Amino acid sequence: MMKKLVGTVFSAAVLCMAAPVVQADGAALYAKCVQCHGEQAEKAAMGKSEVIKGWPADKTVAALKGYKDGSYGGAMKGLMTAQVSTLDDAAMQSVAEYIAGL
Ligand code: HEC
Repeated sequence: MMKKLVGTVFSAAVLCMAAPVVQADGAALYAKCVQCHGEQAEKAAMGKSEVIKGWPADKTVAALKGYKDGSYGGAMKGLMTAQVSTLDDAAMQSVAEYIAGL
């Protein structure tokens, strides 16, 4: 399953070779966040999260790392833990930079 995911992310990066790689990666990663956080990160996810549009990348990375190691979050943090469990540090950085640029 891990292998499949890595393959998918890699293909997405290759397909977007013409665009800056970090951005392309971030956009591909953010695709799975859209349903809850909104196309422009403008929504309070499920009516609960803070609106993350405008968050600087380091603040988002800190939150994502915190969800992964259990040190951050509110009542619905279990839901985010599942979202970030497959993201490594580089992936968190890419998606955070993408969000910061929205
Ligand atoms: C199924 C819905 C859902 C998806 C998909 C989802 N999130 Fe979340 N997100 C939430 C909820 C709900 C919270 C608030 C959780 C809590 O109680 O701490 C949250 C919180 C956050 C926060 C912290 C905001 C705060 O309130 O402190 C960040 C940053 C974040 N999400 C980023 C992401 C990223 C990046 C992705 C995609 C990799 C993603 N989320 C995917 C629902 C979702």
